[in-house]
Amino acid sequence: MYKKILVALDGSEYSERALEKAISIAKMFNSQIILLNVIKTEELDVIKQYSESSYDLVKSYLEQTAEKLLTEAEDKAKKKGLEDVVKKILFGDPAEKIIDEANNENVDLIAIGTRGLTGVKRVVLGSTTQKVIRWTNKDVLVVH
Ligand SMILES: Nc1ncnc2c1ncn2[C@@H]1O[C@H](COP(=O)(O)OP(=O)(O)OP(=O)(O)O)[C@@H](O)[C@H]1O
Ligand SMILES: [Mg+2]
Repeated sequence: MYKKILVALDGSEYSERALEKAISIAKMFNSQIILLNVIKTEELDVIKQYSESSYDLVKSYLEQTAEKLLTEAEDKAKKKGLEDVVKKILFGDPAEKIIDEANNENVDLIAIGTRGLTGVKRVVLGSTTQKVIRWTNKDVLVVH
């Protein structure tokens, strides 16, 4: 049923739990898993206006952090027996890029956390998740 699952990872405990659920589903359906982290460019663009060298430095630091996050997730998935695991880093607005990737890769399911790194408890759904649910026509697994 769910042959291709996109997991949106931001390093939060919520997205970690979304990954665990996605792995369980992938095992049932022998699915491919795409692990996606989006590096937010909003702040990066501000830095660029002031200093090109700081921009390069911050960008490569963020890329390294993203790579590490995704490799840890990949290891976890492979340890649980999944073979088809793909890592992806994109730049831009997280919700927009999650939706783009889901469309481009024609996934059947998006796994995402209710909240993320900001994680304000009184907010029922984080802004990324709200936008994804509103704009996509794909099934979304929202994990608490
Ligand atoms: N940069 C990102 N890359 C990939 N997935 C993300 C990213 N940001 C958020 N997500 C996904 O969206 C889920 C919810 O995070 P969201 O950003 O909506 O909440 P928040 O960080 O608590 O609040 P907000 O960002 O609105 O201040 C995360 O658990 C994760 O699955
Ligand atoms: Mg967030």
